[in-house]
Amino acid sequence: MSSTFTEEVRARLEVDAKDIIARYPRERSALLPLLHLVQAEEGYVSTAGIRFCAEQLGLTTAEVTAVATFYTMYKRRPTGEYHVGVCTNTLCAVMGGDEILSALKEHLGVGNDEATEDGRVSVEHVECNAACDFAPVVMVNWEFFDNQTPESAKRLVDDLRLGNDVRPTRGPERLCTWKEASRLLAGFSDGRAGEGTQAGEPSLQGLRLARERGWVAPRPGAAATEAAGDEGSAK
Ligand code: FES
Repeated sequence: MSSTFTEEVRARLEVDAKDIIARYPRERSALLPLLHLVQAEEGYVSTAGIRFCAEQLGLTTAEVTAVATFYTMYKRRPTGEYHVGVCTNTLCAVMGGDEILSALKEHLGVGNDEATEDGRVSVEHVECNAACDFAPVVMVNWEFFDNQTPESAKRLVDDLRLGNDVRPTRGPERLCTWKEASRLLAGFSDGRAGEGTQAGEPSLQGLRLARERGWVAPRPGAAATEAAGDEGSAK
């Protein structure tokens, strides 16, 4: 595996990198989207990708590697075309997330964060995706598949491997590939952000209850102001 991109790839990525870097007051602030950009090229952050980011931002490869290995959304080895994340955080675990993860690993014959031999699907356990009201939740390339069971999750990965039409429970109607998702995260929109179901019924129920009861979100700084007021009135 080459430790640098070919001239053609490099020239193409440099155009996108310039666009990304121009969004920030300091060049090094562009590192996270640049890592997504190189991940979109190869499906993971390779040595060539690390080197490219370092050169674009005037950083050392050690600095870029430190960031790329800190965040779990950056992969250091080839990922499946469809990356399946099974939430095993508290609520999803209680509702069956661990069983789903075990069932998928056994069904696909892979370990955590490994891809199937055909390169179609990889699986990893992920932390809470802020979708606890739909637990247990499975993500495919960061799109939601709500209220899963071991059986429904196995059907899902089978469909992904067979190339059948698969639709997320919420969000875009067409599931994009891992590389396409990485490019979106680099900040290049495909114009489909508003597609499909947005907030699901359980989330909306919570909103309705809050309105009925007159609950409002705390204002920033309100707690400190109120505490100071209480102290003043106690004197
Ligand atoms: S615990 Fe799974 S989405 Fe929150």
